[in-house]
Amino acid sequence: MPTIVPYTYEKREEKVVYFTSLLKGMKVLIATEKPFAQKAVDGITEILHEAEYEVVRLEKYTDKAALLEAVKDVDTLIIRSDKVTAEVLEASKNLKIVVRAGAGFDNVDCEEAKRRGVVVMNTPGQNSNAVAELALCMMIYISRNCLTPGTGGELQGKTLAIHAYGNVGKLVGRKGKALGMNVIAYDPFITDDAVFEADGVEKVSSVEELYRRADYLSLHIPATPQTKGSIGYDLAMSMPKGATLVNTARKEVIDEAGLMQAMTEREDLRYITDVAPESAAEMAAAFGKRFFATPKKMGAETAEANINAGLAAARQIVDYFKTGDTRFQVNK
Ligand code: 3PG
Repeated sequence: MPTIVPYTYEKREEKVVYFTSLLKGMKVLIATEKPFAQKAVDGITEILHEAEYEVVRLEKYTDKAALLEAVKDVDTLIIRSDKVTAEVLEASKNLKIVVRAGAGFDNVDCEEAKRRGVVVMNTPGQNSNAVAELALCMMIYISRNCLTPGTGGELQGKTLAIHAYGNVGKLVGRKGKALGMNVIAYDPFITDDAVFEADGVEKVSSVEELYRRADYLSLHIPATPQTKGSIGYDLAMSMPKGATLVNTARKEVIDEAGLMQAMTEREDLRYITDVAPESAAEMAAAFGKRFFATPKKMGAETAEANINAGLAAARQIVDYFKTGDTRFQVNK
């Protein structure tokens, strides 16, 4: 496999020649256990065909062996939450670039990819609106007794606390404000207060304060070694009476045993999640309508999000091979 040298201005000419020599006949695999909407597949295919790449698809596969077989001779991979492990990378000897059509790339072994000279990119922001809409939908759903008879509550006037103010967090904040919620946010990586001020959102200075004030806590942190298991008993117990934890991020960030303990001690706490926890069955049995999990991750399951993220992935691949554009590379 040719080595991918980082793109620099000085090397421009050399790079253009290099990338051009790779252009025609490139084989791109769209590997999606959870397929894109047809319109997105059509759009992706059109962009890649225009660049004279070959497009192959592996959809709804149920075991790893199918992916290992499909990646054998491809140059490029477009995925969603599909797991690109060291084993997959080892099986894909020609692989040069993996584009995760979406935001979170915890499903890709980025270090191993880097070691092998494989570029990994994501498509940040492209599916954020769908996830943000689902977060609000979940808040309404659980506050209305999961759409079963009985007196519910309203979002208006409640405090919506946003944990991580990135692409999705911002959209949740703006939508929460439109519903009349009091929006606060915490994000230690955003040092410019103007980011929060622009949305009329109050920035709080600690994660403890965020949870202490949250009627609805919307999680938007990525799953990293630092965040995994970081939301558990203490934070849940610190939330106000009747509070709801809303997870459209990743199940791994929750300390499930700790959260279950808190929900057992506090019969007012609720948990709604787009990522079924490991202990989904126990939670459903123990907490009734205080708990809900979608059967399959569906935050980005809209035609619009699939089209935005899928087409962005295809364009990023073409740009990478044509010009060496690595703006969206996450394993530099
Ligand atoms: C993301 O990280 O972009 C979302 O979790 C969407 O994931 P999906 O493409 O598997 O639906």
